[in-house]
Amino acid sequence: MVPELKILFPREQIAARVAEMGEQITRDFAGEPVVLVGVLKGATIFLSDLSRQIALDSTFDFISVSSYGRQKQNSGEVKLLKDVDQSMEGKNVILVEDILDTGLTMAYLKEMILAHHPRTFRIAALLDKKCRRRRPIQADYVGFEIPDEFVVGYGMDYAERYRNLPDICVVG
Ligand code: IMP
Ligand code: MG
Repeated sequence: MVPELKILFPREQIAARVAEMGEQITRDFAGEPVVLVGVLKGATIFLSDLSRQIALDSTFDFISVSSYGRQKQNSGEVKLLKDVDQSMEGKNVILVEDILDTGLTMAYLKEMILAHHPRTFRIAALLDKKCRRRRPIQADYVGFEIPDEFVVGYGMDYAERYRNLPDICVVG
């Protein structure tokens, strides 16, 4: 069965919002270097676009966690599959994520990175499903707030598919 896809945010709207987020980050860090830590794999396209809108000395790093999958959303389990390559100590770390959903993943990653004593720690999330939050965690930079719907495209997947769609779509 081929699921029906409906465009929620077209590519032009995503590009405009990502540019605003990049400008905000550029202003907030006022010439200081930043480390962009992307959460694999969903955040890769967002990170590559966002980073090009940030006019600061920037480095990239990536982290990978096990996805508990939709059916196991209540398990609360997060497992680290790949840690960052560089030291976070004394750095301005921006954790870049596709979706902030229950917050379990971000709460885990935040705690892990803070243990390494960064100079500052911020979260940039392209999408925020606020109504689904189970941990008291907020992103410092949010692209769009969305209702409880499953979305794909612009890096986000459904069973590893649709990451390459240029628009963010709702799976019907
Ligand atoms: P949570 O905040 O720990 O619940 O998990 C967030 C992660 O779940 C995101 O990084 C996504 O990888 C995944 N996720 C949550 N909602 C969606 C969705 O609508 N589409 C695709 N992935 C999603
Ligand atoms: Mg993810």
